[in-house]
Amino acid sequence: MKVLIVGGGGREHAIAWKVAQSKKVDKLYCAPGNGGIAEVAECVDIGVMDFDGLTDFAKKNHIDLTIIGPDDPLAAGAADAFEAAGLRVFGPRQNAAILEASKAFSKDLMKKYNIPTAAYETFDSPEKALAYLETADMPIVLKADGLALGKGVLICMTREEAKEGVKTLMMDKQFGAAGDRIVMEEFMTGREVSVLSFVDGKTIKVMTSAQDHKRAKDGDQGLNTGGMGTFSPSPFYTKEVDAFCRKHIFQPAVDAMRQEGREFKGIIFFGLMLTEKGPKVLEFNARFGDPETQVVLPRMKNDIVDVFEACIDGTLDEIELDFEDNAAVCVVLASEGYPEHYEKGLPISGLDAFQDREGYYVFHAGSKFDHEGRLVTNGGRVLGVTALGENLREARANAYKAAEWVKFDNKYMRHDIGKAIDEV
Ligand code: AMP
Ligand code: GLY
Repeated sequence: MKVLIVGGGGREHAIAWKVAQSKKVDKLYCAPGNGGIAEVAECVDIGVMDFDGLTDFAKKNHIDLTIIGPDDPLAAGAADAFEAAGLRVFGPRQNAAILEASKAFSKDLMKKYNIPTAAYETFDSPEKALAYLETADMPIVLKADGLALGKGVLICMTREEAKEGVKTLMMDKQFGAAGDRIVMEEFMTGREVSVLSFVDGKTIKVMTSAQDHKRAKDGDQGLNTGGMGTFSPSPFYTKEVDAFCRKHIFQPAVDAMRQEGREFKGIIFFGLMLTEKGPKVLEFNARFGDPETQVVLPRMKNDIVDVFEACIDGTLDEIELDFEDNAAVCVVLASEGYPEHYEKGLPISGLDAFQDREGYYVFHAGSKFDHEGRLVTNGGRVLGVTALGENLREARANAYKAAEWVKFDNKYMRHDIGKAIDEV
C-alpha cells in the first residue's frame, strides 16, 4: 500500500513511525512532514490546507490511504475533499469534526445526550456575556467557540478577570472569528486525563490513557502551550473510572453523533477531568493528541493500518486493540522563550544516541534540514523525547536521561513531567 500522512508535527512523526512498521505499507509520504519524519517517509512540500494540492498528489501517486493529522484541515473539510476525489481517507468529515471545532456544539450535544460535563452558557454578544458575569459564580472558565490552537481557554479567578477575558475574546478578537461566540462554564477541579479512541461511526475502541502538561513551566506555571510532555498510562485512570466513562461518555458520544446525522469516523480524543462527582468531559478533539500520541503509539501492539482501515470500513468491532503492559514518558525539548518569542535555525546534535537503542524515540515537532544539510530547530517545540519503561518511574528516568543526549542552543524543558505519579 501507498500511504500519505498530512501534517508535520510531533504527532505526525509518531503516526508516521507507527505506520512505517505496518507490513501492509510499501511506500509512505508525508505532507509537509519535517526533519525527523523524513527518516521514515518521503516528505512532500504541500501545506495541510491545500486540499487541491493534496488530492492531486494522492491521485497522481496512487495513494491507497491518507491519514489527516491536525484539527484545522479536518474542521475545514479535508476528509470531504478526499472522499469527493474518490480517495480513501482516515479522519472525520467536516460535519463530524465540528465535535472539536465548535465548543458550543459539543456542549449542546453533551447537554442533549446527558454526557457529564461542566454547566455552561453560550454567548454571541459581549454585552450579554458581561451582564451574565455580574451574578455568575467565580472562578469561571471562558472558551472561544472555535479553534484557537488550544489557547482560547481562559480560567478567570475574579469577575474583573472574566470581564477582561470577554473583552480579549469577543471585542479585541485575539483569536479572530473563533471568539465571535464564547462558552462560559463552571470551573472544575480534579485530575486531567486524555483518552484517545478509534471510532468507525458506531463502534468505539479506546486506547490506553495519558496525561499532558500544558503549562510552559515547572509546577504548572507559565503560559499555556501545545503540550510540554506526557505520560501513559495515567495511574488515576482506574478500572472504575474506565467503566464509568465507557458507559456514560464514550459510547454515548459516538451514538449522539450518529443520532445527529454526523457519523464520526476517526479519532475521538476525550479530555476528561476526574472530579469529586465523577469524570466529566473538558473537551472533545477530533484527532490524535500532541504530545499524547508520542506516548500512546509506542505502547500499541496492533498494526495501526489495520485499525485505520477498520474505522473506514465500519468493521472496528472485529479489532481488539492491544497495548504493552509498560509505561512511556515524553519530554518535549523546546526553544527557550516558547510559547512567545524564540530563535529558529539552531543546529541540533546528539540524535545518533537514539539509533539502535530499543525503547527510546525522538519525535520531531519543529526541525528541518538547512541549506547546508544540517538538522536545525524550526519551531517552539523542537523534539519530543519518548522513553519506555516497565513502569512510569522507570520510563520517566529513561526519558530524562535521553533528553540529555540531545544538544541545541537555547534548549528548554520542564523537569517535572510525570511528577504526579509520585503521589500514587
Ligand atoms: P480545553 O481546551 O477545553 O481542554 O481547555 C484547556 C485547559 O483548560 C484544560 O486542559 C484544563 O486544564 C482547563 N480547563 C478547561 N475547562 C475547564 C473547566 N471547566 N474547569 C477547570 N479547568 C478547565
Ligand atoms: N495535547 C492536547 C492536544 O493535543 O490538544
